[in-house]
Amino acid sequence: MVFPEYRPRRLRKNNAFRALIRETELSPAQFVYPLFVMPGKNKREEISSMPGVFRLTVDQLEKEARECLALGVNSIILFGLPESKDAVGSGAHAKNGIIQTAIREIKKKVPEMLIITDVCLCEYTDHGHCGCLIDETVDNDATLEILAKTALSHAQAGADMVAPSDMMDGRVAEIRACLDENNFESIPIMSYSVKYASAFYGPFRDAADCAPQFGDRRSYQMDPANSREALREATLDVDEGADILMVKPAVAYLDIISRLRDEFDLPIAAYHVSGEYAMIKAAAEKGWIDGDRVMEETLLSIKRAGADIIITYFAKDMARILKNR
Ligand code: PBG
Repeated sequence: MVFPEYRPRRLRKNNAFRALIRETELSPAQFVYPLFVMPGKNKREEISSMPGVFRLTVDQLEKEARECLALGVNSIILFGLPESKDAVGSGAHAKNGIIQTAIREIKKKVPEMLIITDVCLCEYTDHGHCGCLIDETVDNDATLEILAKTALSHAQAGADMVAPSDMMDGRVAEIRACLDENNFESIPIMSYSVKYASAFYGPFRDAADCAPQFGDRRSYQMDPANSREALREATLDVDEGADILMVKPAVAYLDIISRLRDEFDLPIAAYHVSGEYAMIKAAAEKGWIDGDRVMEETLLSIKRAGADIIITYFAKDMARILKNR
């Protein structure tokens, strides 16, 4: 006689049974693939600290979007490298700015692709901070107006959803009001509600050329030591009208994802960020870990913690593996 509690353990060797009782599934439809768009023509530049991830010129986007769709990855988030930068990030809301042009191109060529845009100024300011400054301090309230203009310009170009990542106070309300006034009531806001001041963003700042030129982002991003504060930040965003709450980074903050999952009934997104991707890639390149297995285990942990949506540079790689299974 086998003790009942041992039966599942024996059955775990059976693939069908294992699949039958599986609690967490990865689905490419719930991945969001980040794309970096740069000026110029017919160029793909690999980002040195993010092997397999490229900066693309606008003409390359159609091919990339089709490749994602073929793998079942139906959502992308766009980041832009503008032609020039200034103190107030004007390029972020320019009608013919890099992101606005990219959105129009993708919508024209691959309309079924869901386009999310990152709304922030750090890629567009010459000082690299996420807002405009008074002396060396970010001016929260003056920044709100520029962010709202930026979100509106994305919606006008055809974006399906906007994702403010700047962490200024009150930005969700300001963006919501501006979108509503301009008849974009149906555009949802995915808020980077809980964004920590993290060293895991290093490779992204290379990729998007947006490292702060002085100081750091600790006055507006969260202290990694805090978790109750995450609930306060998320509550504010919910009250201001956020439709999806995001936690960023993901793996070092699985407890935060889990807490948000318990406290809120909105969809939760997790951003598996550049440094988290780079570490797995680097160790795999050295032969120290099995990169594919660590990738899957990592993405599963994010799902298991409670995320619905995973924004990840692994979206295509993971989708390819799932497809060939
Ligand atoms: C813009 C922004 C950043 C990331 C996403 N949006 C950089 C930052 O806050 O410094 C990081 C994403 C990643 O590391 O993959 N504010």
